[in-house]
Amino acid sequence: MRDGQADLIRLADYQAPVFHVPRTSLDVALYDDYSRVTTTLELERRADADPAADYVFDGVELALCRLEVDGQPWPKAQYDYDGERLVIRGLPERCTLLTEVTIKPHLNTALEGLYMSRGMFCTQCEAEGFRRITFYPDRPDVLSRFVTTIRADKARFPLLLSNGNPVARGEEADGRHWVTWEDPHPKPSYLFALVAGDLACLEDQYQTGSGRTVSLQIYAEPRDLDKLDHAMRSLKAAMAWDERVYGLEYDLDIYMIVAVSHFNMGAMENKGLNIFNTACVLAHPATTTDAGFQRVESVVGHEYFHNWSGNRVTCRDWFQLSLKEGLTVFRDQCFSADMNSAAVKRVEDVDVLRAVQFPEDQGPMAHPVRPAAYQKIDNFYTVTIYEKGAELVRMQHELLGAERFRAGTDLYFRRFDGQAVTTDDFLDCMAEASGLDLQQFRRWYDQAGTPHLAVQGHIEQGDYVLTFRQWTPPTPGQPDKQPLMMPVRLALFGADGQRLPLPDGSTETVLVLTQEEQSFRFPLHGQKEAPVPSLLRGFSAPVELDYAFTTEQLHFLLAHDDDGYSRWDAAQRLYHAAVTRLLSVPGEAVRAAAEDEAAALAPALRQVLARADDDAAAAALLLTLPSEQALADRLPELDVDGVHRAREALRAAIGEQLSSLWWQAEQNNTLAGPYRPVAADIGRRSLRHCALAYLAAAGDARLAGHLTVLFQQADNMTDQLGALRLLVHYGLPGADEALDAFARQWHDEALVMDQWFTVQATVPGETTLSRVQALLAHEGFDWRVPNRVRAVLGALANANPTAFHAASGEGYRLYADALGRLDAVNPQVAARMANACARLPRLPEGRRALLGGALRGLLKVPRSANLTEVLERILA
Ligand code: ARG
Ligand code: ZN
Repeated sequence: MRDGQADLIRLADYQAPVFHVPRTSLDVALYDDYSRVTTTLELERRADADPAADYVFDGVELALCRLEVDGQPWPKAQYDYDGERLVIRGLPERCTLLTEVTIKPHLNTALEGLYMSRGMFCTQCEAEGFRRITFYPDRPDVLSRFVTTIRADKARFPLLLSNGNPVARGEEADGRHWVTWEDPHPKPSYLFALVAGDLACLEDQYQTGSGRTVSLQIYAEPRDLDKLDHAMRSLKAAMAWDERVYGLEYDLDIYMIVAVSHFNMGAMENKGLNIFNTACVLAHPATTTDAGFQRVESVVGHEYFHNWSGNRVTCRDWFQLSLKEGLTVFRDQCFSADMNSAAVKRVEDVDVLRAVQFPEDQGPMAHPVRPAAYQKIDNFYTVTIYEKGAELVRMQHELLGAERFRAGTDLYFRRFDGQAVTTDDFLDCMAEASGLDLQQFRRWYDQAGTPHLAVQGHIEQGDYVLTFRQWTPPTPGQPDKQPLMMPVRLALFGADGQRLPLPDGSTETVLVLTQEEQSFRFPLHGQKEAPVPSLLRGFSAPVELDYAFTTEQLHFLLAHDDDGYSRWDAAQRLYHAAVTRLLSVPGEAVRAAAEDEAAALAPALRQVLARADDDAAAAALLLTLPSEQALADRLPELDVDGVHRAREALRAAIGEQLSSLWWQAEQNNTLAGPYRPVAADIGRRSLRHCALAYLAAAGDARLAGHLTVLFQQADNMTDQLGALRLLVHYGLPGADEALDAFARQWHDEALVMDQWFTVQATVPGETTLSRVQALLAHEGFDWRVPNRVRAVLGALANANPTAFHAASGEGYRLYADALGRLDAVNPQVAARMANACARLPRLPEGRRALLGGALRGLLKVPRSANLTEVLERILA
């Protein structure tokens, strides 16, 4: 690992590769304390390349043992290796290069390249892990046909997997064996994968539309074999969905997924051999929550959809990361929407975007969906690239309509199959297939920041006139912003709660904004009153909508609007306003004020509860207050204590005033029969737990006993964990016993124990910091397991503002220490966790100094390039 200050890599400097690699043969021999990688590359200088340009290969921390060209040792004077790059001079235009290196997978805690997880070998190559395995032009625009031979001890590693199809196998001396895999599809090195282990497999089959049979194999440790059914169901559903919705079929005879415990992210779409974080593939009612089941479905879908959007058509360079990620997130969002409730899924996705991506846009880490420069590409696997990127694709879908959008993707996949391309290429296809001019739309990819859209309505000569004004606040390095092309879906509601007819004959339309300011007229046909506008329906553009809704209008929309997002947004605005008013109420008076606020909200909440049987999940979303973090993010300064006090007071008052309805919701949504992870049941459980949470906030005397029974008798993790969390967070009688019982029951299930750590790390208040210290010292805590680190430290920083931002600065000191420790083990995860400090500029002065001091302290000794880049941006 080297000191920070890696050079900036710029999109503007992109140059096509100097040579092709038509074939790549790898021979990987795995041993206990090292691995030997012998690589044979067929090289061909590109016709358009500078004939004087040297051949350069990436290679990080490789011990080079042999270098041969066309079968002969290559003279030492003709190459240089500086630990990161191998430059070979004087190579013939076409040649075969052989390199032999050794690497140390058993010491690899960064979890990039080839590493070990609980006794098995596995790989993570995106974005730049392959260069830690062998010398290679490790860039996504070099596509090659791979043949891979893996050799290992047969007894301990009976299973040897790589991309494509197994084509040969055999035995060798000392009880070792080997398997050769051949992948017929040319691919960039970031899609390479290898697994060696002793794993159990769930097998099934899928018949493609054109009648081919694909063998589906999901691998995990034998003890987890009973947790693979949901992933298999999801995989088959995803394969059918991609055929139906995009006309895209799978293209190999085998599709494999392997679950590993040590993983930096969610999962990886390696061609034919996905590698998954156990958290995104294992699911069982007893150990997995509803959210966990839904995550498995969506991530399995996501990685499968990458087979086309990412693998068959890949990225020219990493600036184009959102080409595959934005498109694939959009595809997995639509898949989950079709499998469950579209309205609920949309609200959940918008919630993530607004709660995580909008703040990223407001802070020092703000960057465009297609960044212009970076130091470490690992730091750009962000909500902006993924989720905002998905919103850009969704807007194109909105602008083109489903049919023309499909014509656009058909053209894209046909034209660029087997190529490495850019977001511009994608947009060209959309424009060409639809005939729309998307020139201005391109700005969305290059311009960082969240646009604001201010809307005003008034009546003028019998027409209702809506005026839209858009602007985007400056972001680091981008002071001036241009107006954007954006679709605004809208309906107008009359006093009777019905949609009014619009000029185009419909009752819902999409306005396309292109200018800084634009007005639209809607004839009212003699009606005198201004309608209530339902704006940005479905969240048709990722913007901050500024419209001065009155409280009455918000209640009206909550009651009458038929757009799920719009109703939810109305509720969110009501809650924000109530909490904001409570913030200025001093001391004890906040209780009485909260009672008034609750009383004003109560009729609307009662109505939502009365209608909850139609869609319990939507009701639960409508009844849930914004998180403390989301509330604080909207204030001029992060006032975490004030927000906690105001929000809890409001929740307590709502809990009390609607107490009998909450108990009713609890009873009505207690499900009989076995657990099923289906949308209807998931919705009822979430409404039930929402009711329980209000009763907890209200201090309901009967609740502790009730929760203890629920905890003990639960036949599923959603109920068990939900009960545990409320017992612990509200310090109810029985909480400690429940925590102990939980640990005794689940000590052997890592993913469940992650939850046990998180529940404790998220108890509000400064006293939790000593608990977090104890958790970090717990025998079950392991700095090398990213899931466990996130369960404690990620939870503290992202979901426990009153502890993390404790006035003493103790939370910051603890966190900075932890980041330093983690960085020495796993720089990618350390850098990612450091992002939680990006709200620094919005902290009140005292805390800003404390956090700034803690982070500057970290930089006093050399840190990884990953962590350094994030810290320097935050401190800039
Ligand atoms: N491409 C993967 C996905 O989104 C994630 C890649 C992980 N990258 C990393 N630098 N760790 O499905
Ligand atoms: Zn992805």
